[in-house]
Amino acid sequence: MNVKANYFHLRKGKCMKTLKSSLFIVIVFIFVVVPGVFSAAQTEQTSPAIQPSLKEYRIVRSVSEEAHACIECHAEESEGIVADWSASRHAHANITCLDCHKAGPADSDISKAHLKIVMTPVSAIVSPKDCSRCHPAEAAQHAQSKHAHTLELIWKIDPWLNDGMNNNIERQTGCHHCHGSIVKIQDGTIDADTWPNVGVGRINPDGSRGSCSSCHTRHKFSLAEARKPETCGQCHLGPDHPQAEVFAESKHGAIYEAEGDEWNWNAAPGTWTPGVDYRTPTCSVCHMSGAKQIAGTHDVTERLAWETQAPLTVRPNEFAAWPAHTNWQEERKKMETICLACHSPAWTQGHFTLFDEAVVNYNDNYYKPMKRLTDELYEKKLLSNEKNLDERLEIDMYELWHHEGRRARFGAAMMAPDYAWWHGFYELKKRCMVIEEQVEALLQSGKPGNVFKVKSSDGNTIKPDFDR
Ligand code: HEC
Ligand code: HEC
Ligand code: HEC
Ligand code: HEC
Ligand code: HEC
Ligand code: HEC
Ligand code: HEC
Ligand code: HEC
Repeated sequence: MNVKANYFHLRKGKCMKTLKSSLFIVIVFIFVVVPGVFSAAQTEQTSPAIQPSLKEYRIVRSVSEEAHACIECHAEESEGIVADWSASRHAHANITCLDCHKAGPADSDISKAHLKIVMTPVSAIVSPKDCSRCHPAEAAQHAQSKHAHTLELIWKIDPWLNDGMNNNIERQTGCHHCHGSIVKIQDGTIDADTWPNVGVGRINPDGSRGSCSSCHTRHKFSLAEARKPETCGQCHLGPDHPQAEVFAESKHGAIYEAEGDEWNWNAAPGTWTPGVDYRTPTCSVCHMSGAKQIAGTHDVTERLAWETQAPLTVRPNEFAAWPAHTNWQEERKKMETICLACHSPAWTQGHFTLFDEAVVNYNDNYYKPMKRLTDELYEKKLLSNEKNLDERLEIDMYELWHHEGRRARFGAAMMAPDYAWWHGFYELKKRCMVIEEQVEALLQSGKPGNVFKVKSSDGNTIKPDFDR
């Protein structure tokens, strides 16, 4: 007996009586069978250290006729959507299309085209605010994370945007797909320039920030998917933030690759247990899921002790553009506690001692000296201050911290020796030679270097209004 079967009855035109009796069975399933399964899962729990988060399930209504209409018609119009939804926990918990897509009468994002089909106002956008009605804790944590604020943050510090060094299409197809767009509505239609978009810092028409769809794809909202590294790797990859590649190269990643197919990816929230359900951690385990006495979190800024993506590595609460609300010593303890589920204290501390030394090595021996050299050139007007990234030396300085400088730090943080050395410190040495050579040449000639006309550097430099 499942919900999907009900809708097959529906589509074949069975009378409302059948429908009501099958609904009754669904409700019995939810109130009697589901809680039974949950408590069974909890008693089977083998690790006493894990505290499954307690949740209230308030399913106090059945599925209305209005909600059935959506499913019935969409089973014809877009069967893929209904199939995905039928396979989700939501369907099994009586959460329908209407619960997520119904719009309020005053919402700006009501689909006008859809009003011509049915009277119920619906919106294609399901924002974190919509999900927060039923998942308030996850939504609150996501809302305070750097993920949800990344669009405003990059407008604070990024030269590609602030100096107009790239144009709209380059931003839309690149930056915005990962960082998010500001979704705009025009005359009841979503502006195609800003949609579709599931970037992690999306700004929604209801004012909420972020996107749950970045990691939870509709309409299955599968936990297994969110827990796998491929999900994070959609954005966390490439020359400047190769966490996916770093993970793949680590022992953790190799073991995931070898035997991950046999792990239990579908354990209920709060019960996914190291050593029982999986043998090595994925991104989610170290950064988000709960283990031992550490609670799961949707704030990925937690558990971090450094800003290893910044030009000069600082503590998260000292990061001027977006100071974190955290205390790095406490966050480091949380991260270490995760490791202790599978490693000894000596192994864990050994790892972090090396990582911290690698950070200091990068700061003191690579970034600071090169920064001093180039600062001197700006003072002597041998480099132009007007725009960033339009002089050869500026690109070299950028790649020094943004490419190999990050790779060295990430490689050391996440157990990837090839990234720490060959893509990291080795490349840093080479880059420093290139920088020093150019600095010497400029100082010798006493004449400013070439300022290039960078292609498509006619981007909009007006900061969006983030507080609208
Ligand atoms: C009689 C058929 C029918 C019914 C009933 C129906 N829909 Fe639709 N729906 C459609 C069609 C057709 C489209 C695509 C039309 C379009 O967007 O131009 C659509 C599109 C949508 C979209 C995407 C809108 C967009 O702007 O991209 C959503 C969300 C949606 N429907 C949700 C619902 C919900 C929720 C209900 C129940 C209140 C519902 N639908 C009822 C036929 C239906
Ligand atoms: C748990 C909430 C939830 C439920 C339940 C839900 N949706 Fe969605 N739906 C979403 C999210 C999230 C998106 C992606 C939009 C976004 O990122 O804001 C979406 C997108 C859509 C879209 C536009 C996507 C596209 O690819 O064109 C349609 C159409 C749609 N849903 C129809 C439905 C229908 C029909 C049902 C019921 C069978 C349903 N939804 C149930 C959350 C939900
Ligand atoms: C009307 C209430 C409601 C809304 C709105 C809602 N959910 Fe859910 N969600 C539930 C219930 C009930 C469950 C099943 C119980 C559980 O496992 O937490 C659930 C489960 C989940 C799960 C776990 C699935 C699993 O396999 O265990 C995820 C992930 C999730 N929801 C994400 C979302 C996202 C993202 C949104 C917004 C796009 C959303 N939900 C909107 C009620 C809702
Ligand atoms: C493939 C996805 C992707 C694309 C495309 C992308 N970014 Fe990023 N960006 C990321 C990720 C992931 C991070 C986080 C890096 C880290 O913390 O390791 C990041 C970090 C940043 C940061 C650093 C923020 C901080 O906290 O210091 C800035 C600034 C930034 N990106 C700007 C941009 C701009 C501007 C563009 C387009 C020109 C862009 N990004 C394109 C994924 C992307
Ligand atoms: C950066 C990726 C990411 C984003 C963005 C994200 N989630 Fe999750 N979510 C996850 C992961 C990973 C898990 C699995 C955690 C675990 O192992 O228990 C999860 C689990 C969940 C669960 C199951 C209960 C729990 O807390 O473990 C719910 C409900 C949920 N997410 C809702 C949401 C909602 C609502 C949003 C948007 C406000 C959201 N998520 C945004 C990655 C994400
Ligand atoms: C849709 C793209 C996207 C996905 C998917 C995504 N991230 Fe991110 N993530 C980003 C961007 C962009 C940033 C940079 C935020 C900034 O620094 O402005 C970021 C930053 C981070 C940070 C650094 C936070 C900080 O405070 O410095 C961590 C840790 C992180 N992500 C972990 C994850 C994990 C784990 C997953 C998967 C469960 C994930 N991300 C999925 C885009 C994404
Ligand atoms: C074994 C645990 C572990 C795994 C697995 C792991 N990470 Fe990390 N990650 C760390 C540690 C430790 C740090 C450095 C924390 C600190 O600042 O002290 C880190 C740092 C990061 C940062 C840099 C944050 C910043 O801005 O400084 C990002 C982004 C990130 N991880 C994302 C990911 C993604 C994406 C994956 C999967 C592809 C992943 N991590 C897998 C432990 C892990
Ligand atoms: C779910 C269990 C689990 C967790 C959690 C875990 N690891 Fe591991 N780790 C393993 C296993 C298994 C291996 C492989 C051991 C071997 O080489 O025999 C491993 C290997 C390693 C290695 C060896 C890498 C190499 O190339 O030699 C390091 C270092 C390491 N882990 C550090 C950490 C740190 C730091 C954390 C926490 C941030 C952590 N691990 C979390 C299971 C785990």
